[in-house]
Amino acid sequence: MKKESKQICLQSLDKLIALSKNRGFIFPGSEIYGGLANTWDYGPLGVELKNNIKREWWKYFVQQNRNSVGIDGGILMNPSVWVASGHVGGFSDPLMDCKACKTRHRADHLVGTDELSNAEMEAMIANKKINCPHCGKHDWTGIRQFNLMFKTNRGVVEDSTSTVYLRPETAQSQFVNFQNLQRVSRMKLPFGVGQIGKAFRNEITPGNFTFRTIEFDQMEYQYFCHAAESMDAYEMFKKRAMDYYVNRLGLDKDKLRFKDHGAALSHYAKAAVDAEFQFPFGFGEIGGTHHRGTYDLGNHMECSKKSMEYIDPTSNEKYIPTVIESSHGADRLVLAVLANAYDEEQITDDDTRIVLRIKPLIAPYKVAVLPLQKRGLTEKSEEIFDMLSQQFMTTYDDTASIGKRYRRQDEIGTPFCVTVDYETLEDNAVTIRDRDTMKQERVKISELVSYIAARII
Ligand code: GAP
Repeated sequence: MKKESKQICLQSLDKLIALSKNRGFIFPGSEIYGGLANTWDYGPLGVELKNNIKREWWKYFVQQNRNSVGIDGGILMNPSVWVASGHVGGFSDPLMDCKACKTRHRADHLVGTDELSNAEMEAMIANKKINCPHCGKHDWTGIRQFNLMFKTNRGVVEDSTSTVYLRPETAQSQFVNFQNLQRVSRMKLPFGVGQIGKAFRNEITPGNFTFRTIEFDQMEYQYFCHAAESMDAYEMFKKRAMDYYVNRLGLDKDKLRFKDHGAALSHYAKAAVDAEFQFPFGFGEIGGTHHRGTYDLGNHMECSKKSMEYIDPTSNEKYIPTVIESSHGADRLVLAVLANAYDEEQITDDDTRIVLRIKPLIAPYKVAVLPLQKRGLTEKSEEIFDMLSQQFMTTYDDTASIGKRYRRQDEIGTPFCVTVDYETLEDNAVTIRDRDTMKQERVKISELVSYIAARII
């Protein structure tokens, strides 16, 4: 008897971690050497999924807006950038060491809020007798601020003047290049600049699979505008973020929420919200909309002595633009998409299938070509693969029974399977199976590309 399908909610990340490793989404970093905490490598399926998430972001934020351009800035920048941006002075976490087992912990994580001062956190940890999560003892050092930026050295001499930082956010390339970007694009304010690239943070907390890593991809859009229109722009970018998550990535609306920063604003922000997704371990930040005011451009103007002002060609008003930032973590979005898509569907009393219900638009493979038998069908199947792979990321599988091969594709979220059988040689048609409904349809080979293209949404 066929049971009704109901999407299960993952209770923990364990099943996802196992599936990711077994099927090739995500592997532990440098595993053969025992790994390196908070690092991961994306396998063949992971890289496709992450690239699709990034591509859809670029389309939505850059390509489909008339007043938008892109930039690809360097990871290493003049260290003065990080002094002016406030990261050298203010980008730190409050850390405590357990004297008993020598492990290091974030005080704000121990108390469960980032809205308290260091003195208040120390008092709460003492009064509530919050013990070390690692060894269970209560023997803490005081809180020290620990800068999150990775340092390295350039040149042959290792001294303080040769220190450079791996960027902790991509945003600063847009700010230091503001005048270049405005000049070459000849855009009037308001306009926006998007960037996708690596950022690095020396995170000490082990982080729920890929949620908190020391190296990650950010997708950041800086919108330069007049202060008078900045709050409207801030609200608009909150809406855009949700639209991107729901309509481009297929995240369930009821698993998303905004969390206002309130008293816990970053050193640069005037107003800010986190967008949070309900992961199996609880709500976690996937992106943010930040009203950065004139903080960055103003500081760069002061420190570099180069103008960051804009002259309005109509009113002749001269001012430092206000910045609204839309920031998103590609790695956290991969994790959110996987957690959102994971389903165990009970087909009959003793048959359950694992299916990743990833939105076809961002699924790693769009289609799998499966010859029913190897004998006599290889040539036709390869022909179909060659045709489809011109248009779509396509995979080919001629091992095991057809049922097993369907299940394999379900597990990696392939929306369509094309089965080539002996009739294909007669009628030039194939069977297409839909991942979600498991319904099968006969489609002419000549109509295959348009059939699939119409459903990749
Ligand atoms: N430019 C603003 C900025 O960097 P953020 O809230 O610190 O703001 C933006 O970071 C996004 O980058 C976060 O919403 C998150 O998705 C991602 N992110 C930050 N730290 C991360 C980490 N350690 N691992 C993975 N993603 C991270």
